[in-house]
Amino acid sequence: MSQLKNDLLLKALRGENVERPPVWMMRQAGRYLPEYIGLREKYDFFTRVQTPELAAEITLQPVRRIGVDAAIIFSDILVIPQAMGVEVLMEEGKGPHLPKVIKTQNDINSLSTDAVEAKLDYVMKALALTKQELNGEVPLIGFAGAPWTILCYMVEGKGSKTWEKAKQFCFTQPELAHQLLQKITDTTILYLKAQTKAGADVVQVFDSWAGSLSPEDFKCFAQPYLIQIADALKDDAPVILFPKGSWYALKDLSESSASGLGIDWCISPKIARELTSDKITLQGNFDPAKLLLPVAEIKKEVKKMIREFGVQKYIVNLGHGITPNIPVDHAKAFVDAVKESL
Ligand code: CP3
Repeated sequence: MSQLKNDLLLKALRGENVERPPVWMMRQAGRYLPEYIGLREKYDFFTRVQTPELAAEITLQPVRRIGVDAAIIFSDILVIPQAMGVEVLMEEGKGPHLPKVIKTQNDINSLSTDAVEAKLDYVMKALALTKQELNGEVPLIGFAGAPWTILCYMVEGKGSKTWEKAKQFCFTQPELAHQLLQKITDTTILYLKAQTKAGADVVQVFDSWAGSLSPEDFKCFAQPYLIQIADALKDDAPVILFPKGSWYALKDLSESSASGLGIDWCISPKIARELTSDKITLQGNFDPAKLLLPVAEIKKEVKKMIREFGVQKYIVNLGHGITPNIPVDHAKAFVDAVKESL
């Protein structure tokens, strides 16, 4: 199956021995790269996402520029609400805006869960094109948002610090919330399966706002759906779950069908290893703000992080996406440090 020249990521996810851990960065294709900013000036966000040639080009930029061990397809988690029939606007500098939020049973009934592969055909084309252009250099990661995080946007209509409307919806109308979560889950499973068919070697599920839920509420509104997705994909590709902030779920999720768990910087490598009993590959957890340190210190911190996690069953990454203010040579120092750590 894999004629990859660099399969460190796949080996790490299978728990096989590696000479060094693989490294990639969440949100590695994006606004800290001058070549991305150049394209952003010419095409609006969803044009970049929906044009396979542009999406493939943006996906390859960080592979060429900073030498990461994996490419992640340039897209967005909000293509799922779009495929379900919800309008999503991206306001430059402000973030996503969904003018018509989900409130009622009727709203949920009107959401579509079929023909995802056809509706998101541009993602499949971008994956196929990227795969071809990568020519086996590094693996290609597909992704989707987790059901809880997608519900957050569908109910709230935009980003939020507290997600109180999304929580109010779940807490006061749990039956509707579970119907919505199940519809998102069904759609996401079809979508991720289609991505693996189109060329994704690995898939990651971003539960970016998981940490806004208490342990008990995570277990109710987030975890069962993450587990459904991991179970459904287990024969298609390795799955990385990234429930940001939800350290309390690591034990349960380490016993799921997922191959990897992403963690943020609010938990130490040692405690994460203890909670997961060394059963699963961990990914993370550098604070992206530390990429503002001088290059020599970034390298020192990265090497320390690798010593703390250990070289095996480990994927070097940030604890959340890289921010736009990071100088490119600092992002490259992060990657170089891993390659020097032999
Ligand atoms: O990782 C990658 O390089 C692949 C590309 C990618 C994007 N979005 C492109 C993007 C990925 C994996 C995402 C996932 C995503 N999108 C998440 C989960 C990951 C995370 O960071 O928590 C979330 C919550 C979204 C929703 C979203 N999209 C927001 C909140 C925003 C605006 C704020 C922001 O982070 O920029 C977006 C827009 C977006 N998606 C941009 C990019 C490069 C920036 C817009 C632009 O470049 O014009």
